[in-house]
Amino acid sequence: MLTKCLTVTLGVFALAGCQKNVEPAQPPYKVELTTKDLMQHSIDPSAGIIWGASGYVVDEHGTTDLSPKTPEGWAVVENNAAIVAELSNTLMLPGRSPEEPKWNTYAVQLHDAAMASMRAAQQRDRAGLLRTGGDIYAACTACHKYYVLREK
Ligand code: HEC
Repeated sequence: MLTKCLTVTLGVFALAGCQKNVEPAQPPYKVELTTKDLMQHSIDPSAGIIWGASGYVVDEHGTTDLSPKTPEGWAVVENNAAIVAELSNTLMLPGRSPEEPKWNTYAVQLHDAAMASMRAAQQRDRAGLLRTGGDIYAACTACHKYYVLREK
């Protein structure tokens, strides 16, 4: 079919016309990691880096600011926020997602919180990083509450 089209040398327009009938190829992605793997090896470690660079620790030594102190430190937080944001999309892939609207709501909630966290890191906004880190945590726990703990 395509060969036939190609032999008709009517140029780009004819070719475009022929290609209209071609089914879009299924992307060859592989959902090999389980949701548990994704949580344990990807989402949790990256979120941990964001949380570990947010807020303060108050103890007998006084108050320690956990915020990054160097441009490289901020870049690590920014990178990991981007990772969490994009991983939240992979939670919704067919083959991983339970295909329920609630699941997508929580995954998108995580996405938006991680993007806000990325912007806070870009702006060196310490309070914003703490706040958006809290929003990320809220998205994690909302989904876990429903899908892991099965609380309605
Ligand atoms: C859209 C739903 C959803 C979101 C959002 C989500 N999780 Fe999960 N998480 C799950 C499910 C479902 C499991 C249980 C997987 C299993 O055991 O099969 C899980 C399990 C886990 C586990 C346990 C893995 C193990 O070793 O048993 C950790 C840790 C975890 N999540 C961390 C996080 C963190 C951190 C976030 C937020 C940054 C997050 N999750 C966001 C659905 C979600």
